[in-house]
Amino acid sequence: MNTTTNPKTPPNRVLYATMGLLLAVLLIGAGGFLWLSGQNGNNPVSIGGPFTLEDGNGKSVTDRDFRGKYMLVYFGYTFCPDVCPTTLNAVADAMDKLGPAAARVQPLFITVDPKRDTPPVVKLYAAAFGSSIEGLTGTPEQVAKAAKAYRVYYAEHRTGPGPDDYSMDHSSVLYLMGPDGAFVGPVRADESGSEIAADVKKLMG
Ligand code: NI
Repeated sequence: MNTTTNPKTPPNRVLYATMGLLLAVLLIGAGGFLWLSGQNGNNPVSIGGPFTLEDGNGKSVTDRDFRGKYMLVYFGYTFCPDVCPTTLNAVADAMDKLGPAAARVQPLFITVDPKRDTPPVVKLYAAAFGSSIEGLTGTPEQVAKAAKAYRVYYAEHRTGPGPDDYSMDHSSVLYLMGPDGAFVGPVRADESGSEIAADVKKLMG
């Protein structure tokens, strides 16, 4: 913002113009935050929806299979060097911290790298963080559809000439979905287990 004042402009007009701009920026900023977090009471953000994927045994699963429980959904991939393992460790820790409320929460890890993350791979990976986390995969089309519904960004990033020489860029957000499957709110994925547990508890009401 250019706040240089023209000496010939009456100071009040500059002040009011600046205040108006600031107010506009604040309102847009707050609106954007509320819109994203769905905390303005009417959840205008369409996040989630029907998905059909495969569980760790290669069995078809849909969002409806988790009705009655909150789903704590995270998209990532097992070859992820840092963000995914850190997040899943925190989620496992959050499940411990939730105490009895954990029985009402099902953490889901959905891969964005179905080429390498076959059912046995996601099963083994999710289990390594705690038995409560369920790993899901699917065909590239099924994964793409689920990611789109959750507004998850992901893209292959080549690191060499070989077929496995790539990493996946992906957005990193935890989504809490209600027992009816509807979006409840986002949870920051870069928080500690205690912080995630506190956020989830708050969103569960
Ligand atoms: Ni990752």
